[in-house]
Amino acid sequence: MDLQASIDKNNIPKHVAIIMDGNGRWAKQQGEDRIFGHHEGVNSVREIVEACGEIGVKYLTLYAFSTENWNRPKEEVDGLMELLVATISMETPNLHKKGVRLQVIGDILSLPASCQTELQESIDLTAGNSKVTLILALSYSSKWEITEAVKKIAKQVEAGELKSENIRDDLIQNNLSTHAYPNPELMIRTSGEHRISNFLLWQLAYAEFYFTDVFWPDFRKNEFYKAILSYQNRERRFGKTSEQISNN
Ligand code: IPE
Ligand code: IPE
Ligand code: MG
Repeated sequence: MDLQASIDKNNIPKHVAIIMDGNGRWAKQQGEDRIFGHHEGVNSVREIVEACGEIGVKYLTLYAFSTENWNRPKEEVDGLMELLVATISMETPNLHKKGVRLQVIGDILSLPASCQTELQESIDLTAGNSKVTLILALSYSSKWEITEAVKKIAKQVEAGELKSENIRDDLIQNNLSTHAYPNPELMIRTSGEHRISNFLLWQLAYAEFYFTDVFWPDFRKNEFYKAILSYQNRERRFGKTSEQISNN
């Protein structure tokens, strides 16, 4: 059944964030190496970006490589970096054609030079697109990001440009790497893990969470639409009572 038709087009989250998890276990199930799972995961990325364009999700953040993922075996880390370069190079023309703008968050300077160059070329080429903004979280962790923001703010205080009593939550928000994007209304994690793994701790303060046992390489359009439909059945109260929300 095509679930897309059941989606209420007037209640689409502007920003969806996804922890793409389960590539390794998916590959193991097929009797393959972990890296095979990562390769297959690219097909899911392509489909989900396309699905966002179709239903009108304007921002999609994908957790592709965490700060902690540097601790994986060198062979896997190298494989992932190679896959990243090859994927960006291969997919950019298609992304551009579909009106996708590529952005990145994370400690980009820690990535191999070839990755940085490939990413920058794609970012520059797609800078003028506005259908979907695809934000890749690479060498990203939320604690790293918040620490960087605190350092920037502390420098402004040190320089006498900012008084500590003027530090408010919007100032912190504006110093995060996501300052140019709205906060995600929906966070999806695949593969049955129920944790946040250092992802967008600040930005997800009021997000709806959706967990599925499906491994990332099997997470295709219909699985994504299931998550959107689940989101559309939630009541977002932001501290208020249900009565207040329904009277509005
Ligand atoms: C997610 O899949 C992709 C990355 C973290 C790069 P995993 O590689 O974590 O797959 P599992 O969790 O081991 O199955
Ligand atoms: C989180 O997945 C990071 C990405 C999806 C890139 P992991 O599979 O690395 O998370 P943990 O360490 O098991 O929580
Ligand atoms: Mg994992």
